[in-house]
Amino acid sequence: MVLTLRRIAIFLLSLIPFFYLLQAVVRLQAGEWDILGPEPGREIVFFTGTWAFNFLLLTLVITPAKDILKQKWLIVHRRMIGLFAFFYASLHLLAYFAFLLEWQWPELGKEIIERPYLLVGMLAWLMLVPLTITSTKNWQRRLKRNWKKLHKLVYFIGLLAAVHYLLQIRSSWFEPVLYTVLLLLVLAPRFMQSRRPNTQG
Ligand code: HEM
Repeated sequence: MVLTLRRIAIFLLSLIPFFYLLQAVVRLQAGEWDILGPEPGREIVFFTGTWAFNFLLLTLVITPAKDILKQKWLIVHRRMIGLFAFFYASLHLLAYFAFLLEWQWPELGKEIIERPYLLVGMLAWLMLVPLTITSTKNWQRRLKRNWKKLHKLVYFIGLLAAVHYLLQIRSSWFEPVLYTVLLLLVLAPRFMQSRRPNTQG
C-alpha cells in the first residue's frame, strides 16, 4: 500500500514540469505572448532539456543515496524516474525537430556540422532507447548478468549529456558547469567502488 502510494506520488510529481509546459503552451495559444519569452520554441527546447538532465541526475543519485542513507526502498523507484528522463529527453528531441529544425530534414546534416553538440545529444538519446526498452523485470530476467552491464551505459549517457550542455556555453557558463559538477559527484561513488580492490577473495 505504502509502495503504491509512493509510486503514484512520484508519478504525479514527475509530471509537474510537463503540465507546467502544457499550460504555458495553452496560454500562448490563447494570446499570452510573453508567457514563454520572445522565442517560445527555443524556450521549450531549453525547458525539456533541463528536465531531461534533472531526471537523469535523479536516476543516478538513487543508488548512492540508498547506500549512504541505508534506505533500500529507494531503488524500487529508480525505473520510473529513469523512464521520465527518457520521456523529457524525447520531448526535447521532438521540440528541436518541430521548433528549431522545423522538420527541414535536409538541413539536419548542416546543423550537426555547425553544432556538434547536437550529435552528442542524439547519441545520448539513442543510448537511452535500449535502456528504456529493457527496463522491465522481464528483460532483467532474460538478460541476466548482461542486464547490469547494459544498464551501466547510463553513466556514459550522463557524461554525454554533460558534454552536450558544456559545448553550448556561450555567455552563461554557470548552469552547464553546475550540472557537470553534480553529475561527477553522483558518479564518484561508483568510480571509487570499481577501483576498490576486491577483498572478498
Ligand atoms: C539525454 C539526452 C539529452 C539531454 C539530457 C539534453 C539536455 C540539454 C540541456 C540541459 C540543454 C540546455 C538547456 C538550457 O540551456 O536551459 C539542452 C539544449 C539543447 N539541446 Fe539537448 N539534451 C539531450 C538530447 C538532445 C537531442 C537528441 C537534441 C537534438 C537533436 C538536442 C538538442 C538541443 C538543442 C538544440 C538545445 C538548445 C541549444 C541552444 O540553442 O542553445 N538535445 N539539452
